[in-house]
Amino acid sequence: MSEKSRITLGLIGTGRIGRLHAEHLRFRLPAADLRVVTDLDRNSAQACADRCGIPRVAADHREILADRDLQAVVVCSPTDTHADIIEAAAAAGKHVFCEKPIEVNLQRIDRVLSAVAHAGVLLQIGFNRRFDANFQRIRKAVKEGEIGTPHQVHIISRDPAPPPVEYIRQSGGIFLDMTIHDFDMARFLIGSEVEEVYATGGVRIDAAIGEAGDLDTATILLKFADGTVGIVENSRQAVYGYDQRVEVFGSKGSIQAGNNYPNTCRIAGAGGVGRDLPLNFFMDRYTQSYLDEMAQFLEAIATDGPSPVSGVDARVPVVMARAACRSVQENRPVRLAEIEAEGASG
Ligand SMILES: NC(=O)c1ccc[n+]([C@@H]2O[C@H](COP(=O)([O-])OP(=O)(O)OC[C@H]3O[C@@H](n4cnc5c(N)ncnc54)[C@H](O)[C@@H]3O)[C@@H](O)[C@H]2O)c1
Repeated sequence: MSEKSRITLGLIGTGRIGRLHAEHLRFRLPAADLRVVTDLDRNSAQACADRCGIPRVAADHREILADRDLQAVVVCSPTDTHADIIEAAAAAGKHVFCEKPIEVNLQRIDRVLSAVAHAGVLLQIGFNRRFDANFQRIRKAVKEGEIGTPHQVHIISRDPAPPPVEYIRQSGGIFLDMTIHDFDMARFLIGSEVEEVYATGGVRIDAAIGEAGDLDTATILLKFADGTVGIVENSRQAVYGYDQRVEVFGSKGSIQAGNNYPNTCRIAGAGGVGRDLPLNFFMDRYTQSYLDEMAQFLEAIATDGPSPVSGVDARVPVVMARAACRSVQENRPVRLAEIEAEGASG
């Protein structure tokens, strides 16, 4: 690939996920030319630049956005910074890859999306699980009618351990920080919008999570516009590791995806037959999907194509999360239209 045809980028936020994207952009995506990184913690940005051979560390995101040689930015700073940075990036004419979620306030999301539309730049949100090989295969089976008309979808999504309670206090809670991926997955797999959610849950793992006003265990029923019924099961702690399974059942059959394992060995002994635990968390389980989402971002810029995960895709799961919060609070099914009607108040 010639120097000229590579996409020039800057990256904002070199924490957990930012470092992963920086490594992919520098070492595994020849179409990318990552030239600069920044972080509030300059040492973190410098360490990332040193490790990945990135030529420059900028003082802040403004310096990156002012760089006329950059075509795109990758936003990996905390969620409460995303809206401001996307708006500023759009005004500077940069294409944006931004980690999920875009924002938790619907009114603010709408302002961001109109700024992006006005600027005519590409915005892709980091719903990486869509790019996972298992879930891509399920989507293909549903789309091509391999399992007939879908009737039911079942998503099991359990983390190996809860995040710190301080994180939960500012994350917006389980539906916004965790289920949001499953809400995205549900509408992606079925290819139909969800109209109603009915959520319930409890605190089964750590009382401190309950004291912070959140749940650590949740079950959410989904009713889709096309008649499909779905269920999402979340737990913040599965003692056997990261539990990420999906089944879609339809008129001609079903398709299931199980967990991914570090190896395929089975160990037999007098006490039974077993295997090692599943891959432990998202950095291991979804590595390839992070790479593939970024490859598609670069491709969409190069070909002037549509965003693989658009602003609408970013917004709807937030509406679903808000409906789920309301459902738990009021112990009733909540239609997304109800949340939309209140959208003006955020
Ligand atoms: N798609 C996924 O699977 C996935 C996984 C993890 C995190 N995320 C999302 O990525 C974002 C970052 O999460 P994380 O786990 O990497 O957090 P983190 O705390 O590890 O990293 C965030 C970094 O951003 C820096 N930062 C804060 N404000 C900044 C600013 N204004 N400009 C530049 N840098 C700034 C912090 O110093 C920190 O180094 C969050 O929105 C989170 O929801 C997505």
